Amino acid sequence: MIVGSTKEDLTLEKRVSLTPETAKNIIGLGLQVCIEKDYASHLGIQDKEYKKVGVEIKASSNEVLNSSKAIIRVNCPSENEINILKENTILIGMLNPSKNKNQIDKIINKKIKIFSLELLPRITRAQSMDVLSSQSNLAGYRAVVDCVAEFEKAVPMMMTAAGTVPAAKVLVIGAGVAGLQAIATAKRLGAIVSATDVRAASKEQVESLGGKFLTVEQTENLETVGGYAKETSEDYKKKQAEMMKEALKKNDIVICTALIPGKPAPRILTEDLVKLMKPGSIIYDLAAEQGGNSAYSEAGKINTVDGIKVIGVKSLMNRLPLTASNLYAKNLFSFIRNLYSKEKKDFNINLEDEIIEKSLIKEV
Ligand code: NAI
Repeated sequence: MIVGSTKEDLTLEKRVSLTPETAKNIIGLGLQVCIEKDYASHLGIQDKEYKKVGVEIKASSNEVLNSSKAIIRVNCPSENEINILKENTILIGMLNPSKNKNQIDKIINKKIKIFSLELLPRITRAQSMDVLSSQSNLAGYRAVVDCVAEFEKAVPMMMTAAGTVPAAKVLVIGAGVAGLQAIATAKRLGAIVSATDVRAASKEQVESLGGKFLTVEQTENLETVGGYAKETSEDYKKKQAEMMKEALKKNDIVICTALIPGKPAPRILTEDLVKLMKPGSIIYDLAAEQGGNSAYSEAGKINTVDGIKVIGVKSLMNRLPLTASNLYAKNLFSFIRNLYSKEKKDFNINLEDEIIEKSLIKEV
């Protein structure tokens, strides 16, 4: 039983699905592993490191796809690869079914079982496989690092003989996985941090990281049973905008991470609100690829409006692909360990297991 992985399109994706460490772990389960040559050399990981742990190196992606029972990937395969995929293969990755509907239809029609790890239930047993958490946590960290690099002032308070430098003020909108890590990272750098979220439960988490929580008074419960946010009412939006007016005037850096699963990003910062910030301020929009939390944000661009930089994030994981790959590959290993039956020496697609049932794409 062979697990294979081919190179992604490096112009779009620098992460890999398999590291020498996780290859060794997969082989430890009793499976074989193969990869295409030069699989991770762009990350400084040479083929010989994979060979050392028992991975077979194939000359081409075709050879990998032809000999593997399970293919692990980051993104959806290309048209060319889909044509080569064999019937009854298992494909595991972050396939983004709403974006890649046509490709997914084609793959399912080839009787290939697709597991897309963004669909995993957020239950305790699936935590080690939770790709959204592992990658968003890094996104929150990297957001702060990028902002600091763009910011033309120092972040921590400094008392020097030449005078005192005040600490920068950072506001985080949305205190989910990325937001909480952004708060923690900004605090570590010495910023004064505040945050807001529609979920009342996040107040305690923000405060436990040393952030100040900005509350929007509300009577409605904006949290689903699964712990996600609901869409806000017009009344809530008005109150939130009022609260933002004061907060935006005071803050130097705003990191936007607000997300409602399966919906376009909520637009929180209107054009008028953005313009309340001081020149030299930064808005960093992690939700830019889903439509943006802020006006003027465009994925992959920095737009300057009245001296305020609005940074629209695109493919952020390509800015720390090695760490992102290490965590993603571990998530995949945990998923494979749950899917593979050592007794049957085969993958066991047990639909009574919530993890397997929820991550399997049935149709799009
Ligand atoms: P999450 O679901 O853990 O957190 C989102 C938070 O936003 C939740 O706490 C939610 O309650 C809050 N929220 C929703 N609507 C709100 C509103 N109107 N006002 C205030 N808060 C609101 O999501 P996660 O994983 O932290 O991701 C955050 C964003 O970062 C997403 O847009 C995600 O797509 C993006 N992201 C982008 C990456 C990239 O490479 N470009 C990588 C990882 C994440």
